[in-house]
Amino acid sequence: MSESRQPDRLAPIEVRDRADALRAAAMFRTLAASVTIRGIPLDLASTAVIEIAQNMVTHAGGGTIELSVVTDDAGRTGVRVHAEDHGPGIEDLDSALQEGFSSSGGLGLGLPGVYRLMDEVEIVSKATTGTVVTMVKWAPA
Ligand SMILES: Nc1ncnc2c1ncn2[C@@H]1O[C@H](COP(=O)(O)OP(=O)(O)O)[C@@H](O)[C@H]1O
Ligand SMILES: [Mg+2]
Repeated sequence: MSESRQPDRLAPIEVRDRADALRAAAMFRTLAASVTIRGIPLDLASTAVIEIAQNMVTHAGGGTIELSVVTDDAGRTGVRVHAEDHGPGIEDLDSALQEGFSSSGGLGLGLPGVYRLMDEVEIVSKATTGTVVTMVKWAPA
């Protein structure tokens, strides 16, 4: 039964400003609590959602975040974040992943922090289509 179950998926969140970014992070925390990720690691991971959402606001003029509950082959449960925008793309991804790199006078800690806070991160970014960030936080065993 559980194998064929579709992942729980929340309605997409439109992200246009900082309030939306905070709302997305709060929804991540709610969803994560429902799959028994609890305590400090979960709170930290929600910061990754704020960073990705804030990047969409600052660098891409907004975007959409979808949250879902996923299960892997070993039965481990996690929360997946799919963030998509149609902005200008990340010009130089290698540089963008370095601590302190910012194209806009920011702290440049967002993307490096995201890699530390989440268990899996994938970034696909193109000037023609924009940026898609997919990341997963797995529940502790
Ligand atoms: N969604 C995005 N669209 C376009 N560029 C982005 C996006 N997210 C990040 N970037 C680029 O990657 C750089 C590094 O991001 P980050 O580490 O969050 O630093 P900051 O946001 O403080 O500049 C940004 O300065 C920007 O050039
Ligand atoms: Mg940032």
